[in-house]
Amino acid sequence: MGEAKDRPIGLFDSGVGGLTVLRELRRQLPGESTIYLGDEARMPYGPREAAEVLGFTREAMRWFADRDCKLVVIACNTATAVALEAVRDESAVPVIGVVRPGAAAALTATARRAVGVLATALTVRSGAYLRALRDLDPLVDVAQQPCPRLVPLVEAGRAGTPEAEAAIREYVEPLLSEGGVVRPVVDTLLLGCTHYPLLREQIEHVAGREVRVVDSATTTALAVREVLASHRLARAGGRADHEIFATGPVERFQTIARAIFHEDPPAVTETRLGS
Ligand code: DGL
Repeated sequence: MGEAKDRPIGLFDSGVGGLTVLRELRRQLPGESTIYLGDEARMPYGPREAAEVLGFTREAMRWFADRDCKLVVIACNTATAVALEAVRDESAVPVIGVVRPGAAAALTATARRAVGVLATALTVRSGAYLRALRDLDPLVDVAQQPCPRLVPLVEAGRAGTPEAEAAIREYVEPLLSEGGVVRPVVDTLLLGCTHYPLLREQIEHVAGREVRVVDSATTTALAVREVLASHRLARAGGRADHEIFATGPVERFQTIARAIFHEDPPAVTETRLGS
């Protein structure tokens, strides 16, 4: 086995959406090898119960342990929201989630200290974003909005359609008026779900110019960079390898990834989680 720093970084998501985080990680840390695992067969996680998603995330952590990763990123907001604390305690390697980096990005952006969080139903129910935002700024105003129709629309390749815009209006407009008067209640919208960056243009259009729209990909990659540097685990150079694994039919994963990213996805290997 090579040096500790030559081991790959693991990224886990419920499906293809976490590729948005992988893309940013590769941009910021080009020398690092990565292993991506998407649990496509059991996605979406957003409408599920917390205990079930915790079980799935534990299975993923065991999968990464078998592949000797030096750090694991839980790129899924829903899994981070309900499982990060538990799996971090159980893991021998550092585990980074996307919620705290997302909260930090939102607090950097908000001038009026009022943030709207768009997320899955389970992420909202968990209160994870509310806690992360309040940990960093106890006085920040937070409005959370579950957006259950957005992930299915993106997965169906219907981002950018009038149907997607109607759903976005339904979720975002309540955050943009107060007492029937159009006046943004929040000045920043945090995209608290892997799929929402793929709807960013439409969300920005609906939110208007007074509202900033941020996601967690950039700050998550930054957090990874800092942990690797402080533990002397950063890799300076050499050839980086990138592998992508998915549960469930690989063709489905690739079709969705292609529709989402408008580019040919790299080779995807089918795998299994659990027993
Ligand atoms: N990856 C999930 C998240 O970021 C969205 C898709 C799902 O519901 O599984 O919350």
